Formats: sequence, C-alpha cells, structure tokens
Amino acid sequence: MSNVFSAVKISDHVYWVGAIDWTIRDFHGYTTPHGSTYNAYLVMANKITLIDTVKAAFRGEMLARIKSIIDPKQIKYIISNHSEMDHSGCLLEMIDIIKPEKVFASAVGVRTLRELFHDQHEIIPVKDGESLSLGNMELAFMETRMIHWPDSMFTYLAKDQLLFSQDAFGMHLASLERFDDEIPAATLEYEAATYYANIVLPYSPIVLKALEKVMATGWKIKILAPDHGPVWRKNMGMIIELYQKWAQQKPTAKVVVVYATMWHSTEKMALAIAESLAQEGIKVKLMSMNEVHRSEIVYELLNAGALIVGSSTLNNNILPQMADVMTYLKGLKPANLIGAAFGSYGWSGESVRDLEQMLKDMKVKIAAPAVSVKHVPDNSTLEKCHDLGKVIAAELKKA
Ligand code: FEO
Repeated sequence: MSNVFSAVKISDHVYWVGAIDWTIRDFHGYTTPHGSTYNAYLVMANKITLIDTVKAAFRGEMLARIKSIIDPKQIKYIISNHSEMDHSGCLLEMIDIIKPEKVFASAVGVRTLRELFHDQHEIIPVKDGESLSLGNMELAFMETRMIHWPDSMFTYLAKDQLLFSQDAFGMHLASLERFDDEIPAATLEYEAATYYANIVLPYSPIVLKALEKVMATGWKIKILAPDHGPVWRKNMGMIIELYQKWAQQKPTAKVVVVYATMWHSTEKMALAIAESLAQEGIKVKLMSMNEVHRSEIVYELLNAGALIVGSSTLNNNILPQMADVMTYLKGLKPANLIGAAFGSYGWSGESVRDLEQMLKDMKVKIAAPAVSVKHVPDNSTLEKCHDLGKVIAAELKKA
C-alpha cells in the first residue's frame, strides 16, 4: 500500500483533502493540546477546484489525499479563502505541481499572498458577491474581512448547499472523525469555544455583522466546511447560535480571578476574594498563572462578567506570568467586563497600581477599590478582600 491517505467525501460533489496535525501544541501563543487539522476541499465540478491548501509541511499528505481520487493535474482552479500560512503554506508548490488554469483570492488576499511569498504567479482577485462558473455549478464569494485576517472570505457552493468558511466555525482538534456528529457535543462546544476565545474574540462585532450578511444572502446551508476541525453537517445550528452568543459577550454572574504569587500572600488574597464571591452566589474560576496557561484564562472569560487580577510585586513590576496573560488578554479585547486588582509587595508595591491601569487600558470597568498589602495579609486585609468580592458580586447582580 503506497498511499495511506484517502480523501473523504463530505457532500455530493465535495471531498475533504486536508491534513491532520496530531502533534501541534502551540498556535502563536494559543495552546492546542489536542492538535489540529488543516482542511482543504476538492469540488468535483467540470472545472475541478481546490479550496485552500495546507501548512507547508503537510503538502505530501494533501497531495496523497487528492491522488486517492484524481490526478492533481485535473484541478483547474484553486481558491484561497484565507492566506494565513496554515492554509497557504504550500500554495505555490501546489500551483507548480498542478499548473491550474486560474488561482483566485479576495483582492486583499492577492496582495497578502504577494507580501507573504514575493512571487509573481498570477492570482486573480474576486469581489464580494461575485460568482465563478465551474461549468456545471457555481461558486459565490463573500468577503469576511477581519474574520480573522483582512483577506478572509467565504465561498459558497449552491449545488451542495455548502459554505466553505475558512477559520470561522473551526476548532483545533486532530481527529480522523470528519463530521461533527461523530464527536461528542461537549467536545465540539469546548474546542470551538477555546478557538473562538483565542482567535476570533477581538473581531466579535464583525462576526455579528458577518452572520447577518450570510443570513441576508438567502443561501441555504446544509454543510459548513471550516478550515480546521470537523465539517458541520448535523449541529450547524448549534455552532451558529454559539457564535452569536460568544460574539455578543453578554456579561454573566461569573468571575475569573487570575493571579500569580511569590510567597502565597497574593494567593491568600485570591482565595478570600473567591470565597466571598461564592458566598454571594457568584460562579468563580480561580486561576493561578503559576500553573495555568493563558489560553484557559481567555476561554473562561468568554462567558464571564468580571475579571479580577492579582500579583506580587517583583523588582518594581508585576510578576512575568501576569505580564504574559495581561498582554495576551489586551490583544484579544474581551468586552463588557468589570474588574478589580489586588496584590502584595515587600517594599515598593507597584503591582496593584499597574494591574489596575492595565485593566483600564483593556476597557475593563474598575468596580471595586484595589486591595494591596505589605508582606503577608492579616485578618484586616483579608476582610478587605472579602469586601472586594462582595462589591463585585453586587455589581454583577445589578447587570
Ligand atoms: Fe487557520 Fe487564520 O489560519
């Protein structure tokens, strides 16, 4: 057996010809403990069309899957829905192997691919709303700028009522199961939420507009084919409703308390705040940056109403673990949160002031006075932490 890889039929005229990355564990700062897939699709029209490619190192796997059904040279068109290198890394090599008649991308995609590869292969720009005839069926294009790159677009195949949605509705999950109904719903929701929180979150207002734009097309969609994770053929309503919910970022009665500690003083304060919140009936996630990865923090914040952050002062600064997560969160722009800061110090005590300013810079509304203590918290300081929790709980209950 020379070819261990096979294409998987996902609709009447479309095959999945992507690659499975079982070992990837980091996606520029987002931890991916369950690996990923890079999905590429073959539309078996008169003009056979490849939708997206895969990360450079996986070109052989994709080619093998294509060869399991056709000679790659039969491919006439290539569409690049998204030029990030996990989907375009082997595009140029594929163009050289296939020698397609035409390659298409959005106008921004054409520029981006040029800037990424500094290559002179002709790539034809397609406009938002434009259609492309494949002979016996048609593709339609919709720009989805900033979901999650400026070049991003969706491609719709009316013949199979199938939407190729590039990164949207995807997840980092390595799996031989190709369809959503072959994977437990709880796994789908967790992995899609983690992906949304770590990749899509900053573009939530654009997601809401894009969902409206798709609805306005009147496209009938039976299958949703993203560039990562399973193809949605059964629980499509679930993922669309989840995207609507996550994109709205409505605050809930849940608090994420994130802290880093040197000699357990800041930790004692965190525990007092968490206990107080729980006594007020608020759901709490207590997360120590000494142990927890930043990706888990943003996942928990996706359905929270408050972010409370604490750090010891180290050399006039917050602890580096807190700097890590605060930088990450600032970029991901979680919205509609209230918050507060706390921490301990030995002599200079900048950490609490700096954390509070970072929250403000993230547009988190400061809803309780910060609590800071020199060295080890006594009962009076722990009482202040308790009060901080009560104030935050009261604010959340008002919302
Ligand atoms: Fe999966 Fe934005 O690349």
